[in-house]
Amino acid sequence: MNRLGLIERYRDRLPVSEATPIVSLMEGSTPLIPVPAVSELVERETFVKFDGANPTGSFKDRGMTMAVSKALESGAKAVACASTGNTSASAAAYAARAGIACIVVLPAGKIARGKLAQAIAHGATIVPVDGNFDDALAIVLELTSSHDVALVNSINPYRIAGQQTAAWEIVDELEAAPAVHALPVGNAGNITAHWKGYQSVGEAPAMWGFQAEGAAPIVYGEIVDDPETIATAIRIGNPASWDGAVSARDESGGRIEAVTDEEILEAYRLLAGRDGVFCEPASAASVAGIMKFSADLPPGRVVCTLTGHGLKDPDTAITSMGDLDPVPATLSAVLERVGL
Ligand code: F0G
Repeated sequence: MNRLGLIERYRDRLPVSEATPIVSLMEGSTPLIPVPAVSELVERETFVKFDGANPTGSFKDRGMTMAVSKALESGAKAVACASTGNTSASAAAYAARAGIACIVVLPAGKIARGKLAQAIAHGATIVPVDGNFDDALAIVLELTSSHDVALVNSINPYRIAGQQTAAWEIVDELEAAPAVHALPVGNAGNITAHWKGYQSVGEAPAMWGFQAEGAAPIVYGEIVDDPETIATAIRIGNPASWDGAVSARDESGGRIEAVTDEEILEAYRLLAGRDGVFCEPASAASVAGIMKFSADLPPGRVVCTLTGHGLKDPDTAITSMGDLDPVPATLSAVLERVGL
């Protein structure tokens, strides 16, 4: 089969028409990878949906192909987003492809370097602000409501429409939903989209969402003013799709819980070191969550979404896993270091 972008793959289920100019980078159709080491630990057959294999390295491309296509259809000349990094990388790439401008507003100093490199490479206009993601989003909401610029954060319903396709791909491949679908929760668009996607094909896995302990407003039931976590992608204190996440949890009989940075890093290292899958720290929150609450897993399969590629955040990999102190340039020193 020729590879299709996700709008072409699921055209009959998505809000597009012949008049929609499709802006695609052949996103979607990402691998569903069995993870034996995780499976053994949680005592369930577990797969990761590796959305880091999308063209810009994160699940955001699923929503962005829809949002930018629809923005172009409506005649937009520019798009804008607030971002913890991945949305900006994706928006910048799709805007470049569409030949329109892209404005990104980011929390200064809190964007993983790979993501920033992407936004720069694709020619976005980047504005770092002295504030967190929630501050940046408030600015962008005001900017897009008062100027002729299309909003491409996940409040945009086309983003959610596109992101549903991950659930459809899983059901197509497994020929059923898993018993549990686990994913990290930040601004809460993705858990909302997955639940919508499953429901639209008559499936209902228990949706398990995981927030970082220092940025877990849905778990605590209140806004977190100064969210903090090593998983910068989900460093969010007031999620825009809060209600969608709560509905997904409650309607599916699922749960939303907190995992610590140490638990996230443990899952991150296990996935990379034992199962050979390198995701970014926020993505590993899904696997950290099923490890932490494995005693409560119902019978059946488990799917964890790995939302972004490990290369997005090289600094965390190097500082949390590396031992890079040099030794003298001699064979004996190298042999000593490798224990031979
Ligand atoms: N994982 C990664 C790698 C992300 O980049 C994000 C969100 C999430 C999980 C959480 O998804 O927001 O739909 O609950 N990143 C956004 C951004 C906020 O700006 O790139 P969510």
